[in-house]
Amino acid sequence: MSTTVLISGGNRGLGMGLVQGYASRSNYTVISAVRNPDSMPEVKCGEGSKVVVVKLDAGVNEDAEKGLKQAETEHGINNIDIVVANAAIGDSFYPLAKVPLDNFEEHWRINVLGALALFQACVPRMSKGGKFIFMSSGASPIDRIPDKEDAGYGITKSSCNYLARYAHFENPELVVFSLSPGWVQTDMGDRAAVRYGLEKAHITVDESVAGMLKVIDESSREKWSGLHVRYDGTQSKW
Ligand SMILES: NC(=O)c1ccc[n+]([C@@H]2O[C@H](COP(=O)([O-])OP(=O)(O)OC[C@H]3O[C@@H](n4cnc5c(N)ncnc54)[C@H](OP(=O)(O)O)[C@@H]3O)[C@@H](O)[C@H]2O)c1
Repeated sequence: MSTTVLISGGNRGLGMGLVQGYASRSNYTVISAVRNPDSMPEVKCGEGSKVVVVKLDAGVNEDAEKGLKQAETEHGINNIDIVVANAAIGDSFYPLAKVPLDNFEEHWRINVLGALALFQACVPRMSKGGKFIFMSSGASPIDRIPDKEDAGYGITKSSCNYLARYAHFENPELVVFSLSPGWVQTDMGDRAAVRYGLEKAHITVDESVAGMLKVIDESSREKWSGLHVRYDGTQSKW
């Protein structure tokens, strides 16, 4: 039996780590949904596993459905077991009073509408026990006391938590939760680290991905669904 996984933004950073992590197992089909298919690097695959690439710009509402149709027509994939809505941008470092509204709008479009569009396109293609994960962030909890000028990004991740909790109740056959990866050494993570006076982010992609894979493997309707979980298997605040 083969397991089919879809990762958005699978061409670099955490998305690529997740694609590599799943593809290195046996009998996995991994769909890497990326805005520029030429940017997808070669991935080593385990026995019976493969990576297929589809085009999906998370900033374009129709692209999620188009990407899944592409997976169906070009690769015969019509059922998906695990989805990680990972694609996002994080480049909004302003006090709330000064966030340029077009910057905020772009973060909202890609990080929230993009994740919701992917959820809407995937649900009809998922069976009982299917898992949909919204990638969240330590910047998301609304009860956090602001320690960085990142509200334009944090609000979008807070909204992903909302989507996950709402979707959990609306879809009793699925496992749906939001997942925070830690502060990770990727383009996004290191950019923020340097901005706040650190040399680099706290943990490596491998550490984060190993934790996230374990959380996703162990998740069920009873464990983590409807909640906001961290990569280390602890529950996060909202
Ligand atoms: N790194 C951290 O410390 C950290 C902490 C908390 C949460 N996160 C979350 O973890 C996820 C991955 O972040 P990362 O650190 O891996 O970031 P990253 O290194 O900047 O990579 C971002 C990924 O998202 C893709 N992406 C951006 N806009 C897109 C669009 N419009 N359509 C399709 N793909 C798009 C990028 O593709 P392109 O190459 O085409 O741009 C890239 O694959 C994000 O949801 C982020 O918010 C990261």
